[in-house]
Amino acid sequence: MAGGPTIKLNSGTEIPAIGLGTWQSKPEEVISAVEYALKEAGYRHIDCAWGYGNEKEVGEGIRRSGVPRSEIFITSKLWSTRHQDVEVALDESLSALGVEYLDLYLVHWPICLNPKGNHPNFPTRPDGTRDVIHDWPIWKTWEQMEAVLKKGKVKAIGVSNASEKILEELLPHVSVVPAVDQLELHLYNPQHELLDYLKSKGIVAQAYSPLGSTNSPLHTDEHVTDIAKKYELSNTDILLGYLLAKGMVVLPKSVTPARISSNFDGAIAALNKLSKEDVEALDKLAPSGKQKRIIMPPWGVDLGFRNWPGQSPLIL
Ligand SMILES: NC(=O)c1ccc[n+]([C@@H]2O[C@H](COP(=O)([O-])OP(=O)(O)OC[C@H]3O[C@@H](n4cnc5c(N)ncnc54)[C@H](OP(=O)(O)O)[C@@H]3O)[C@@H](O)[C@H]2O)c1
Repeated sequence: MAGGPTIKLNSGTEIPAIGLGTWQSKPEEVISAVEYALKEAGYRHIDCAWGYGNEKEVGEGIRRSGVPRSEIFITSKLWSTRHQDVEVALDESLSALGVEYLDLYLVHWPICLNPKGNHPNFPTRPDGTRDVIHDWPIWKTWEQMEAVLKKGKVKAIGVSNASEKILEELLPHVSVVPAVDQLELHLYNPQHELLDYLKSKGIVAQAYSPLGSTNSPLHTDEHVTDIAKKYELSNTDILLGYLLAKGMVVLPKSVTPARISSNFDGAIAALNKLSKEDVEALDKLAPSGKQKRIIMPPWGVDLGFRNWPGQSPLIL
């Protein structure tokens, strides 16, 4: 069935549990990747962001696919230089994508960067550190997220890269609890405790970099290879199926048609085959020494994550 398995959000809508990632997909590649994913591979969920600089081309791919807008779940994200003018930033994404609403809009990082700084995406101070506005609390951004939700420009709102510490700062101020938290989640960065916390708050976890991103060490993990052999699946299938089995949304990125297809079909095949014992064994790999976080931009702010060297205790 097109779209694959779904997960219910606290907003009441269903999100397809497998979405196509688009970070680092070059504009000239992403048109055909998105078209292929929707038309040929069964995807009904595309994960975008203003910060990826390719929303215009993602929109073109969506139109070329011929799949009706109403059947597609589209996420975009508010970039850090836009925390003070959420609706204007959202309108830019809607216009670039060529759609009238988003299914989900996320605060990309819980950090406000100077909108009048020396760069539109990554403003820096004279000493080279990022030009962060430290006295802008996340709830001020969230108030504006709630306003665009109320206006109907987006169907659900959520956060990304929000640790328990950030959510504890935010939640006392909200009228609408974030529907999702999009996080670096994969075999080597499973963030077990944060997942438990999100569950307790009714927030769905979305796994970004589920394959370990570019040049990933995950593809050759020997434990994954053993499980893959047992079920005659690929290692990638197991990496994705493991996350699905834990109740997350997965967002594998690819611009390669064969991989776009196999990631979708393989994730579902692995979800159907992995046993409780397989999942428990995979859960233990990071705590027993394989822990590795990959995406660590030099914000110069402690986001409150564990296993972020130099910022928080190196424990799981
Ligand atoms: N919220 C955030 O801050 C945040 C941060 C990072 C990512 N994300 C989202 O999450 C998505 C996924 O994360 P990601 O792009 O970092 O990494 P990823 O999906 O874990 O890995 C993408 C890499 O794996 C390759 N690949 C894909 N399928 C493969 C397969 N079957 N076999 C071997 N290699 C394969 C891709 O190559 P090809 O494309 O060349 O096939 C690409 O190099 C992003 O695209 C973005 O939408 C969000």
